[in-house]
Amino acid sequence: MTALTPPSVTENRATRRITVPLPSASQDGERLCAELESANILYFPQTPFTISPADRQTLLGQKQTSAAFHKNVAYRPAENRVTGLDKSESSEAEALRAILQSYSQNAARFLGELLPPYAGKWKLDFASYRPIEERGRPARLHARNDLPHVDAFPTRPTNGDRILRLFTNINPTQDRVWVTAPPFAAIAPHFAKTVGLPTQARNDFLSAAIRGVARAVNLPGARRSPYDHFMHECHNAMKEDSAFQQSAAKQRWEFPPNSTWIVLTDCVSHAVLEGQYALEQTFIISRHAMVRPELSPIAVLERLAGYPLTSTI
Ligand SMILES: [Fe+2]
Repeated sequence: MTALTPPSVTENRATRRITVPLPSASQDGERLCAELESANILYFPQTPFTISPADRQTLLGQKQTSAAFHKNVAYRPAENRVTGLDKSESSEAEALRAILQSYSQNAARFLGELLPPYAGKWKLDFASYRPIEERGRPARLHARNDLPHVDAFPTRPTNGDRILRLFTNINPTQDRVWVTAPPFAAIAPHFAKTVGLPTQARNDFLSAAIRGVARAVNLPGARRSPYDHFMHECHNAMKEDSAFQQSAAKQRWEFPPNSTWIVLTDCVSHAVLEGQYALEQTFIISRHAMVRPELSPIAVLERLAGYPLTSTI
């Protein structure tokens, strides 16, 4: 086993919020990518693309009584459909699908113009509408949004690629309130110790033999690399670790009505404390598009482990 460095959850490193003036010059793209990869938040006081008043009114449910407007809804761009609704909500589903399709397309167009180094090097993942008040929202421990964590999708492994999310607060009066804790690079040594990095034997064994067979028969989790396994375990361990939750240095961020912000949520330790009515689009950015690849969680972890943690087959 490679020796691990001591816990560093109190390391004095912090996320910053960078207000981006618009229009941003295309030559700023590399600098903005570097800010994101350094675990900073790109912030736009005014949403940089249009969400029509009619769409906002529909999302806020002013004319709606359906449950469809009171629970989280996901939009899958590749299939152009929404999930999370009952059959009885099909008329609302069409309205939500059209609004989320427009938001998804606008977000992707804007991101491509803002961050040329990433343009065309992503998979457009799900968009979502989050109409539920976050303060006091009941959830099981691992699903709680109010505990700082880094994101990992157990059913959508990235194999070292990055999770980038663009959020918009469409609440007309209420801020969306986040806290951030020390970023992944600062906490990785601690959680590598408590979670345990995958051993090299496990990596070799899985990637060379089991993984290929499992993929051939399409077993669940077969595409999960040792990296994805660790990141999911780390996500859970952060929420379970009450000492970390209580003692980690935190910063509070308020995102006012009609603001938009962009975050690499696999390296920014984040939590949502308050807020209702937000839109979000997720992008999976190729790890090879990074302008500071040494800062990526996969690079941080592979330095700790001393061997590769992604799968090449
Ligand atoms: Fe999250």
